[in-house]
Amino acid sequence: MTIQALGYLGIGTSSLDDWTSFATGQLGLQQVDRGGNTRAFRMDDRRQRIVVDANQPAAHRFFGWEVASAAALDALAAKLEAHGIAVTREPQARADQRFVGGLISFRDPDGTQLEAFHSPMLADTPFQPARNISGFRTGPLGMGHVVLMVPDLDTTLAFYIDLLGFKVSDYIRTPLKACFLHVNPRHHSLAIFQHPARHGMHHLMMELNCLDDVGQGYDIAQSEKDRVAVSLGRHPNDYMTSFYTRTPADFLVEYGWGAREIDDATWKPEEMTTIASFWGHDGLIRSVAGSDAPPPGDHPPPPPEGRRAPLQVVEGGYQKISGVCSWWDATAG
Ligand SMILES: [Fe+2]
Repeated sequence: MTIQALGYLGIGTSSLDDWTSFATGQLGLQQVDRGGNTRAFRMDDRRQRIVVDANQPAAHRFFGWEVASAAALDALAAKLEAHGIAVTREPQARADQRFVGGLISFRDPDGTQLEAFHSPMLADTPFQPARNISGFRTGPLGMGHVVLMVPDLDTTLAFYIDLLGFKVSDYIRTPLKACFLHVNPRHHSLAIFQHPARHGMHHLMMELNCLDDVGQGYDIAQSEKDRVAVSLGRHPNDYMTSFYTRTPADFLVEYGWGAREIDDATWKPEEMTTIASFWGHDGLIRSVAGSDAPPPGDHPPPPPEGRRAPLQVVEGGYQKISGVCSWWDATAG
């Protein structure tokens, strides 16, 4: 695969201070000093993962996708150009701003600004979260996932799959059209939803190492009026337990834990019949459809009975208890 992971996200804003308090107090990110009208935030050993820029309009976004090497970046640029995509080879000054070895920029079929880069720089000090969290699950999985809304799913999908090398994890055709895509063992680093009227970014997902970090983040979000956009719940495809907060921008942040990994060598994409969660996530359907949309409105349709899946835990992140699990024994047969 060409693209290896989601590396960074850039956001234009007129609310630098709101972003700073949200990124640190709610998300637990570490602010790093960039001075002027730019703020940057760490979530792991990288120099920066999120950049907020008051010199850019609020609708401005850029998504940084990581490739393996300078040679891989050159090959990607050549492939894009061969398919008629305009590619800018960014100067070293821009690479220095992004704390990467080199980068190119281009746009997807909907005009979304994408960057591809190699050789991200690591910080020389350990990550220090702004509040007491165990940290974020990143590494080879990248910084998380993003969800984009587009007018024509098929055109956008062809671009990401055929030119950038994304692979389908699963998809849904009705009652809405969406596709979940992977570039590493994270179930999806990108999802694309078709919507006739709403375009752009729906959410950024950040995965915590510990469920309690998510629960404590939920407490903080609930203490603030209208901060929670989607209640705590568990997704049926990546098994993520998460909630969604509003941000100072027009997209949400999904704050989650416990997503499964997939093995591309054996994975078989499946068609989903619903995006309704195993439980919770009240407000999710509405957040996708938009407040001016026709029903289903506030609540997703009730999910089929009996949907459940094993918890996804890292070594050391659990203790076994006694007893037997009758439903799992029945499922595993
Ligand atoms: Fe998500």
